[in-house]
Amino acid sequence: MKLLLVDGAGSILNSVTKEYPLLLPKPGWAEQEPAEWWSACLGGITELLSGFDASLVCGIGVGGQMHGLVALDENDAVIRPAILWNDGRTAEETEWLNTVIGREKLSALTANIAFAGFTAPKLLWMRKHEPEGFARIAKIMLPKDYINYRLTGVHTCDFSDASGMLLLDVEHKVWSKEMLDICGVSEAQMPKLFESYEVIGTVKPEIARTLGLSENVKVVAGAGDNAAAAVGTGTVGDGACNISLGTSGTIFISSERFGVDPNNALHAFAHADGKYHLMGCMLSAASCNKWFCDEILKTQDYAAQQADITDDKLGNNRVFFLPYLMGERSPINDTDARGMFIGLSMDTTRADMVQAVLEGSFEVAKSIGVRIERSKLCGGGAKSPLWRRILVNVLNIPLDIPQTEEGPGYGAAMLAMVGCGAYAGVKDCADALVRTTETVLPEPILAARYEERYNMFKQIYPACKNLFKELM
Ligand code: XUL
Repeated sequence: MKLLLVDGAGSILNSVTKEYPLLLPKPGWAEQEPAEWWSACLGGITELLSGFDASLVCGIGVGGQMHGLVALDENDAVIRPAILWNDGRTAEETEWLNTVIGREKLSALTANIAFAGFTAPKLLWMRKHEPEGFARIAKIMLPKDYINYRLTGVHTCDFSDASGMLLLDVEHKVWSKEMLDICGVSEAQMPKLFESYEVIGTVKPEIARTLGLSENVKVVAGAGDNAAAAVGTGTVGDGACNISLGTSGTIFISSERFGVDPNNALHAFAHADGKYHLMGCMLSAASCNKWFCDEILKTQDYAAQQADITDDKLGNNRVFFLPYLMGERSPINDTDARGMFIGLSMDTTRADMVQAVLEGSFEVAKSIGVRIERSKLCGGGAKSPLWRRILVNVLNIPLDIPQTEEGPGYGAAMLAMVGCGAYAGVKDCADALVRTTETVLPEPILAARYEERYNMFKQIYPACKNLFKELM
């Protein structure tokens, strides 16, 4: 959890990071305990405000991982660990939704088709596999909404995050009664909907006392992490694009008007600025490098691993890596897909494999196939000059690097500023606060080499697709 303290002029005064465990109970499953988020949040805010006058805080905005199912009982107690956005257990339910209910109908009701990580298939899974727990659900929430609930005592959701549940009529911004029926839940079980910058309430008195905050601190509805990151990088208004390289990798295209990708390969969601966006999401991006370094090479020194990737190696690696460590969402929508190295030979070096892991994530980004002309870049993966250089040449478009890389956290703080009345709207706030400090340009020779490699890379998954199924 990343916590930022931001002043009225948009300067980051302090930041704190808190870790909490990721539970992987079976291959392809991913869960977290909402109680861990809350204790990270309380501990994190205390650390964040240490040395500052906490009573001056005006507002709080939260951006959070999308799609996760948080199920609360009638006493608002958590029924089971949250099932996360990259959990692949719902292959059967996803297939049922897309074939029996049908893609066309899903798209007409919600603007999207089913993907395993979305919330609706998770509800169907719970109904089938944990009927007692399912019968006790009084409120369905998303991860950041659980934090907002613990802060304020109210059950809410914003439109950007609600879009990823496959329960929202995205165009009209209301719950789809038909989708709720299909999933066996009622509107009373759903949180109340808000725009991301709208105030949902104030911090509960006991929480304010614990944290030294005033009881007037406003909490805004906040946003899904990608919409929050888009706000934080100034990706608002028509046609602006942001690429986020975090655990997941996403391409986010902001739009003034509602529109659906005819193939439903891109998600059609509401934006945190009150409008809409299209998005493609790869489940494993920077997480591939973290996995390879932490789990396989047993080192935390990522920079040292990249030191041997010399200039001459860029675009010339004969080793390829498929980054499907948690299955994949965009564009292949395949929960059975798995990671693999291909092209190893006796002279393959450790550096070649590290490089293949970095390149693999970006080559997939290219295959999302959006025709964009330039983009902003944020997320942990945006910090390394080597990663930036590979990405810019794989995509062959200029990448603008915003002054602050803290995309989602900074965007959530901006939403709180708008909620507190400091700016008339999200666009005004972005115009006033977000600055590009650097633009990274493609290098024609390198971009051509990566294009050649990409043509080879894109043949690997189709050749292995059936095999992945058998390996399950
Ligand atoms: C977006 C998605 C991920 C998570 C990561 O659809 O699933 O980007 O939001 O936190």
